[in-house]
Amino acid sequence: MARHLITSAIPYINGIKHLGNLIGSQLPADLFARYMRARGHEVLFLCATDEHGTPAELAAAKAGKQVAEYCAEMHAVQAEIARGFRLSFDHFGRSSSPQNHALTQHFAGRLDDAGLINEISEKQVYSHADGRFLPDRYIEGTCPNCGYDKARGDQCENCTKQLDPTDLIDPRSAVSGSTDLEVRETKHLYLRQSELKDQLDAWIDSKSDWPVLTTSIAKKWLHDGDGLRDRGITRDLDWGIPVRKGTEDWPGMEGKVFYVWFDAPIEYIACAGEWAAANGLSDADWQRWWRTDMGASDVRYTQFMGKDNVPFHTLSFPATLIGSGEPWKMVDHLKSFNYLNYDGGQFSTSQGRGIFMDQALELLPADYWRWWLLSHAPESSDAEFTWENFQSSVNKDLADVLGNFISRITKFCRSKFGEVVPGGGAYGPEETAVIADVAERCARYGALMEAMEVRKSAQELRAIWVSGNEYLQSVAPWTTFKSDPDKAAMQTRLGLNLAHLYAVLSAPFLPDASAAILKSLQVDEAVWPEDMNEFLSQLKPDQAFVVPEVLFAKVTDEDREAWQARFSGVRQS
Ligand code: MF3
Ligand code: ZN
Repeated sequence: MARHLITSAIPYINGIKHLGNLIGSQLPADLFARYMRARGHEVLFLCATDEHGTPAELAAAKAGKQVAEYCAEMHAVQAEIARGFRLSFDHFGRSSSPQNHALTQHFAGRLDDAGLINEISEKQVYSHADGRFLPDRYIEGTCPNCGYDKARGDQCENCTKQLDPTDLIDPRSAVSGSTDLEVRETKHLYLRQSELKDQLDAWIDSKSDWPVLTTSIAKKWLHDGDGLRDRGITRDLDWGIPVRKGTEDWPGMEGKVFYVWFDAPIEYIACAGEWAAANGLSDADWQRWWRTDMGASDVRYTQFMGKDNVPFHTLSFPATLIGSGEPWKMVDHLKSFNYLNYDGGQFSTSQGRGIFMDQALELLPADYWRWWLLSHAPESSDAEFTWENFQSSVNKDLADVLGNFISRITKFCRSKFGEVVPGGGAYGPEETAVIADVAERCARYGALMEAMEVRKSAQELRAIWVSGNEYLQSVAPWTTFKSDPDKAAMQTRLGLNLAHLYAVLSAPFLPDASAAILKSLQVDEAVWPEDMNEFLSQLKPDQAFVVPEVLFAKVTDEDREAWQARFSGVRQS
């Protein structure tokens, strides 16, 4: 029994996320959380909405709402959709929570006490045309590092380098396109990350099991000249966490808020506090997940995120934690993803391109999407969603393999023996062989799940389904029945036991189908197989079951064409 703290990158509040966002962090995090729970481990799985910064302000303005009101509404919308996708968060928090306000201000105070904060009078970009200071991401220009001409003032999307707006070549306002920008003087707080360089370097070196995608981005950044330069952690915005030093005012910082990327990862911790509060638990209950002096040293902490988030999780957030001088739990394993593209281009929230989470659930239940997305997770490289591929995966994997197996065995049993597990006969060599095969595959599947090899896990799971299909096909109880009903009963019994196995093993990927199979087999509790022979003898003669409804409908050519057409343009609202 281990204890697993699992967080997914927290999605921005400004709108419903698309499927590319979903597979980039929340869904694989859910897969891992479900798997770890299924193996009997204690899991705390947290996610939240990322509610501060300019995007939230602008989206609220666009919706004609106060920011606080907009955020509360969008949080509820995102929470509902998360439930629709069966994301099994123990808590879905909000970065605007009182807990995060207090904790963010606390960290800033600690960092200042440690001498890691500089107050810098700096020049900030003021846009005459827009009548406001422009936050970093609302200034666009050419990246000094790679030459990409739509780099934003906070980060270049193309080469992932973190930038300051004044680094940009030919800067312009992303709001109006105006180049009539003026640099004005204003005071801000800077986190002296460079002071922590050696500690961060040593910490990253201690993570020998991190994937190359993660360490290479972190290391590149740490050693690339000014990679770890000091970062401004305050902004001139109305909406956000007011700059305070712990619980005290911070002279000269009136009217300013913390930078969204400073408070967002702190929400991972605050969210545990929100979880405790929501469940009537004490501070000690959440601190045992987060404070190594309160019991968190035996916690294994895994973070899930898209590749553009890696620098913030490998450097900025660890700098906050280390710099505080307090015993916070640091991430053990960090799983990052490449991008999922949509039908020959990119998914894009700002352009409304692709399929958004709410729309997906209007077309088909969660399991269909979960299966396609997870079995095509953009792990070693970017991946692409196409409707043809989606149709073929759903039809071949879910309908023809898993769905067909369950329906065939339960219906055959009903027709010959009734809706009870048939008695008679004993497992012979064919049965021993298929049991050994699924046992071996099941061990491999477990190891892959443990290692968060998402695609490979899906492949192995599918192979386990195939194995049962091949067994049924080759022993053909419908033929055996004519000459040897007892033997057919035994084959059918193993088939039903395999259906039970599939329900348990598939649960992390397909929670609804899994629950439906268990219900139809009248199994109350899903218990992961330890000994395969034992597991596959659990459904005993005379035990009743009910043939389940069709688990997966096929996606027809007409569906595919209609959906392809419907999602070919951009989303209007
Ligand atoms: N909202 C960010 C994004 O969607 C992720 C924030 S993750 C956290 O890219 F670390 F800040 F929490
Ligand atoms: Zn660049």
